[in-house]
Amino acid sequence: MKALVQNGRLIDPLQGIDEICDIHIEGGRIQEVRKRGGAEARKKKNPAVRAARLPGYQVIDATGMYVVPGLIDLHVHLREPGFEHKETIKTGTGAAARGGFTSVCCMPNTRPVNDNASVTEFILSKARVEGSCSVLPIGAITKGQKGEELAEFSLMREAGCVAFSDDGRPVMDSLLMRRALEYSRVHDLPVISHCEDLALAASGVMNEGLLSVTLGLRGTPAQAEEIMVARDISLAELTGGRLHIAHVSTAGSVEIIRAAKRRGIADVTAETCPHYFSITEEAVREYDANAKVNPPLRRQSDVEAIREGLRDGVIDAIATDHAPHHRDEKEGEFDLAPSGISGLETAVGLAMRLVADGVLSMTMLVEKMAVNPARIVGNGGGTLKPGADADLVIIDPRREYRVDAGDFASKGRNTPFGGWLLPAVPVVTIWKGKVYTWE
Ligand code: DOR
Repeated sequence: MKALVQNGRLIDPLQGIDEICDIHIEGGRIQEVRKRGGAEARKKKNPAVRAARLPGYQVIDATGMYVVPGLIDLHVHLREPGFEHKETIKTGTGAAARGGFTSVCCMPNTRPVNDNASVTEFILSKARVEGSCSVLPIGAITKGQKGEELAEFSLMREAGCVAFSDDGRPVMDSLLMRRALEYSRVHDLPVISHCEDLALAASGVMNEGLLSVTLGLRGTPAQAEEIMVARDISLAELTGGRLHIAHVSTAGSVEIIRAAKRRGIADVTAETCPHYFSITEEAVREYDANAKVNPPLRRQSDVEAIREGLRDGVIDAIATDHAPHHRDEKEGEFDLAPSGISGLETAVGLAMRLVADGVLSMTMLVEKMAVNPARIVGNGGGTLKPGADADLVIIDPRREYRVDAGDFASKGRNTPFGGWLLPAVPVVTIWKGKVYTWE
């Protein structure tokens, strides 16, 4: 398959490119990136013109659009094996491709839990046959995610895991977390921490504050997250391990991570999710379980601190925490509904609002959604250098997108963003040279 992406504005921070370019793809890889601008480029015979005449080339006109390295989502729940009524590897990777992602890291809270090589191998073999993007499995930190005994890091790593996490649950035992971070160093793979002090969280179903009291719902204070962020950073200092903090939701967490980075703890990275920089706890006022998520949506001051953390580099990555659930589960009582938001298909549009608001430049957006995630999981992505996998997404900044969960490729329709008008949308995703065009 040969393709040519013509005349788009390529944003590739690792190559220092923000220019109109033509990109030549062949054999699933980037063959050539030719800048259109310079006199030098004009003198040379333009490969786009040559290729357009050649049979077998798919020519994609990206005039007026951004062309960026394929997005990499560090935090996705694909639900297979075990919860195929919520999502499958096929539908989840389909939703990822639709959302502009060419790689997703999938969390281990499946049934069985991905805490051993055979589950990892199952996921990878299914993804090879049914996937629409690359799947990078994350192994559990502890067996069964029970928080009692470490899982087999080295076997899971050999099978293809790119990180370890008990996401959905914290590792409450500090000694176990210490050991996990020590192993993360030995294996040079990150431990992704779901920061939640379970005792303090006290089975809360939303943020603790005036609103939770008003609604008569159990609240979880910001400190339930922050205490664990501080603990894990202390343990990263103790061990020199590689710590990545998942789904940062509070101003206090941003501040603790900022202080750690200032102290020069190099191996601490952090992600937040679109819902934490887009909406507040007000979204649950009508008991809409589609806005029930863990950690919970917080206050406006937290949203602002997270935006500032993204802007000044304290937060390295935007991940979706794509957590699809079945409609019946979300339609029940708020108290009993599972937490999670189906996030793959709204992430680019919500992140582009940060660009529209002047919080991020396009280059920074690409850093948060492709370059830094690639660095964190070490998959070699995040750039369109010649020789790299032809993983890219074309984003049309003139095409607004009205969110309609009924149109999602994901089985999970659980979004609090239904009806929102987002400023831009991916129109083409190319994964290993395979072109998906979205109408
Ligand atoms: O809201 C959430 N849903 N947060 C998590 O940590 C887990 C996830 C899930 O698996 O549904």
